[in-house]
Amino acid sequence: MRNFKMLLILLFLVSYMRGSTSLHSLGMSECIRDGGETLLSADASFELGFFSPGTSTNRYLGVWYTDVSGKQTVVWVANRETPLHNKSGILMLNEMGILQLRTGANATILWSSKVSDEAFKLSNSTAELFDSGNLVVKSGQDEGSFLWQSFDYPCDTLMPGMKLGLKSGIDRYLSSWKSTDDPAVGEYSIKIDRKGYPQLVQMKGSFINAREGSWNGIYFTGYPNLQQSIFKREFVFNDTEVYYEFDILDRSIFKIFRATPSGGWENMVWTSQTAETTTSGGQDACDSYAFCGSNSVCNIGDNVASCECLKGYVPKFPQQWNVSYWSNGCVRKTRKTSSACNNTQGFLRYKDMKLPDTSSSWFNKAMNLEECQKSCLKNCSCTAYANLDIRNGGTGCLLWFDHLIDIRQFSQEGQDLYIKVPSSELANDHGNKKIKTVAIAVGVIIFGLICWVIIMLIKYPGFARNIRKNKQRQDVDLPIFDFSVLAKATDNFSSNKKLGEGGFGPVYKATINGQELAVKRLPKKSGQGSEEFKNEVVLIAKLQHRNLVKLLGCCIQGEEKILVYEYMPNKSLDHFVFDETRRKTVDWLKRFNIIGGIARGLLYLHQDSRLKIIHRDLKTSNILLDANLNPKISDFGLARTFFGDQVEANTNRVAGTYGYMPPEYAVHGQFSEKSDVFSYGVIVLELLSAKRNREFSDSENYLNLLGHAWRLWTEDRPLELLDEVIRENCNHCEAIRCIQVGLLCVQQRPEDRPSMSLVVLMLNGEKMLPKPNFPGFYIDRGVQLQADSSLPNNTFFSANQISITILEAR
Ligand SMILES: *[C@@H]1O[C@H](CO)[C@@H](O)[C@H](O)[C@H]1NC(C)=O
Ligand SMILES: *[C@@H]1O[C@H](CO)[C@@H](O)[C@H](O)[C@H]1NC(C)=O
Ligand SMILES: *[C@@H]1O[C@H](CO)[C@@H](O)[C@H](O)[C@H]1NC(C)=O
Ligand SMILES: *[C@@H]1O[C@H](CO)[C@@H](O)[C@H](O)[C@H]1NC(C)=O
Ligand SMILES: *[C@@H]1O[C@H](CO)[C@@H](O)[C@H](O)[C@H]1NC(C)=O
Ligand SMILES: *[C@@H]1O[C@H](CO)[C@@H](O)[C@H](O)[C@H]1NC(C)=O
Ligand SMILES: *[C@@H]1O[C@H](CO)[C@@H](O)[C@H](O)[C@H]1NC(C)=O
Repeated sequence: MRNFKMLLILLFLVSYMRGSTSLHSLGMSECIRDGGETLLSADASFELGFFSPGTSTNRYLGVWYTDVSGKQTVVWVANRETPLHNKSGILMLNEMGILQLRTGANATILWSSKVSDEAFKLSNSTAELFDSGNLVVKSGQDEGSFLWQSFDYPCDTLMPGMKLGLKSGIDRYLSSWKSTDDPAVGEYSIKIDRKGYPQLVQMKGSFINAREGSWNGIYFTGYPNLQQSIFKREFVFNDTEVYYEFDILDRSIFKIFRATPSGGWENMVWTSQTAETTTSGGQDACDSYAFCGSNSVCNIGDNVASCECLKGYVPKFPQQWNVSYWSNGCVRKTRKTSSACNNTQGFLRYKDMKLPDTSSSWFNKAMNLEECQKSCLKNCSCTAYANLDIRNGGTGCLLWFDHLIDIRQFSQEGQDLYIKVPSSELANDHGNKKIKTVAIAVGVIIFGLICWVIIMLIKYPGFARNIRKNKQRQDVDLPIFDFSVLAKATDNFSSNKKLGEGGFGPVYKATINGQELAVKRLPKKSGQGSEEFKNEVVLIAKLQHRNLVKLLGCCIQGEEKILVYEYMPNKSLDHFVFDETRRKTVDWLKRFNIIGGIARGLLYLHQDSRLKIIHRDLKTSNILLDANLNPKISDFGLARTFFGDQVEANTNRVAGTYGYMPPEYAVHGQFSEKSDVFSYGVIVLELLSAKRNREFSDSENYLNLLGHAWRLWTEDRPLELLDEVIRENCNHCEAIRCIQVGLLCVQQRPEDRPSMSLVVLMLNGEKMLPKPNFPGFYIDRGVQLQADSSLPNNTFFSANQISITILEAR
């Protein structure tokens, strides 16, 4: 027991040191990346992740069983035919509940789970790895139903609870790996052959290689000694379904059945007592399909297979038979003529047999043995009969016609087979020779142990959510600067000192007592009285957040209204992302940080600050960057000071910037938090693509940036939107998530757009992302207006270079 505990601790440490992250479920827009991230079943016996088989360096996504010795046995592979050649693979569950394996710079899809059309209406699905090893996608709406499950798409392994055969229109079969190094579909398969009476066969290509045989209610006729009370085995055969399934009654044992690359099959069994596995299921010569040809019985004696013609039959080629060449089999002793059929016929009972090939036999589930015999006797070409089901004394009827193929004799436990013979043969009764058969032993009991690997669920490091910490200092001592001091510090507002032209006036760099400051000179006609303005500025100065530019003071002197801010050495975001060389310095981590920072700043303005502020002119040039490229929203209080406290409804003065304004604001003058959300979405997409929405045009499809992003999204090529500079080395999962957040924010209908608090959660991966609808201003240039038919298709789409526009709405 002590050792066991130590082992657990060890396992835990090992997994911890590897830096692996194991999830217990995968939500929509969540990912598993190659390099230690896995999905774990609740009891930790199964794990889904990336692996390399054997000596191969290729990477595959698969499910493996871990026994307590740590040995992993792969039981399912997703991308069998499409290996990854490096560790760039990610598995994600998209917003429609489809699992996608993506790779490469563009995160192209290598493999995906097929989902019925119905699933496209559903949302909120999750992927989970069950304790059975079944990887399932559950729909959020109906817990019990699965959108997809790996058990429907078996590879080489049959596990307890899996169905082999036809159910719900899906025909499941096992197919071997090509080799132990290559999980691609190999030559061999194991399937339920539905011709005649269904039987389990092992195929090599399209030929039967070996035949486990038909189901007799207890076992497949070729393997009578596989009956074990710890397993529940079931074969369902009716008009719509034909499948085999086994389950384990004793939970301390685990067993799988698999098709091997060399053409055999094996049973692997683990028990909780020991870590050992037993493997069994070797085949002998008599297992080869039709080893003895037709009408002949295979026996194993002294480990040598030999064949013997059925009574009433003789070798087709006696010379061959004499030198142990059996495959041409036996033929009727008396030529088959009408008179032969007329002859008195009888049946000889062969005991402990494997029944012949049933692919052309006739069956009836209701008949008893006596009726079965009568049917066979009546039909000239009938050659043998047997019970379908050997339980309860036997029921049902199986009839064979013409040749009897692939029969073998067991030393015990086989089935009764009744062979039609002329009455002459019946006379010299012989009794069945019972040749000792070497049974295939199924070793079962071993050492094993169920492995409990307790792995911490390490979630993405959350964005700081301690926004409130920074909230509202009680007293704000807002310095009032003297106009002359500011004029001097900016060389009398000289153009040399100009940092830029903000939305509400030019900004200058000032140096006062060695401290660098940014000075914004507001237009003289702001329509607000000095006292009112000052009160407003004091209020805004109380807004404190690390993602907002800090207001340090102001100056009100006559007509002059000046705001003094902290100085941002790295200027604004547009200065970086739209610049050929500077954008190379903004790698994925920095961009992700910027996206998150803006979101938190905006959330603070919308919700967490005492003043509810809608920015109304959010754009890349209003996002300033500090020395570490942390984003800070600027001009955030100005909308308020200029327009008063209109938080809801309409304004007849539309201020904003082309490319960032949502349709409802640009056209109807309606604004709300959701207008800022739209602008935020545009910034996100611009930052990711390093392209300006306003200037972008996709020459092929006449789309603006939003339309282009949307099109790539719907075509499942989201990452092609990315700036090449970051495409290769970004975290593809985060990037896809950011694109999706961007698209959610720029949706046409304000009510569809998420609030900023949701955006922050989504970016953190703490909230499932819904499916985005088409964006506002979907198509530019007035070619086609899908977004809103009420839009005037003129002025808004002109390439106006002025970044701030005040215009009258209708
Ligand atoms: C990984 O392989 C894919 C193709 O399989 C390729 O597109 C991508 O560039 C490779 N990534 C790295 C980092 O080598
Ligand atoms: C999505 O699923 C989660 C957990 O399964 C649940 O808490 C949430 O309410 C669901 N949301 C919707 C919209 O169905
Ligand atoms: C076939 O058998 C399955 C399992 O017993 C059952 O659910 C299904 O309804 C049956 N179908 C028909 C057509 O009898
Ligand atoms: C078969 O072999 C035996 C000797 O081993 C021989 O006597 C017999 O004639 C052979 N029969 C045929 C048909 O070749
Ligand atoms: C024997 O076969 C012949 C020819 O097929 C048929 O006419 C006759 O009725 C048969 N006799 C019996 C007893 O079945
Ligand atoms: C014997 O059975 C076969 C297969 O069911 C059938 O095709 C044939 O017509 C039957 N013959 C007679 C004489 O009933
Ligand atoms: C990725 O997508 C871009 C844009 O569609 C394309 O030019 C590039 O060739 C793609 N790269 C790869 C590796 O597929």
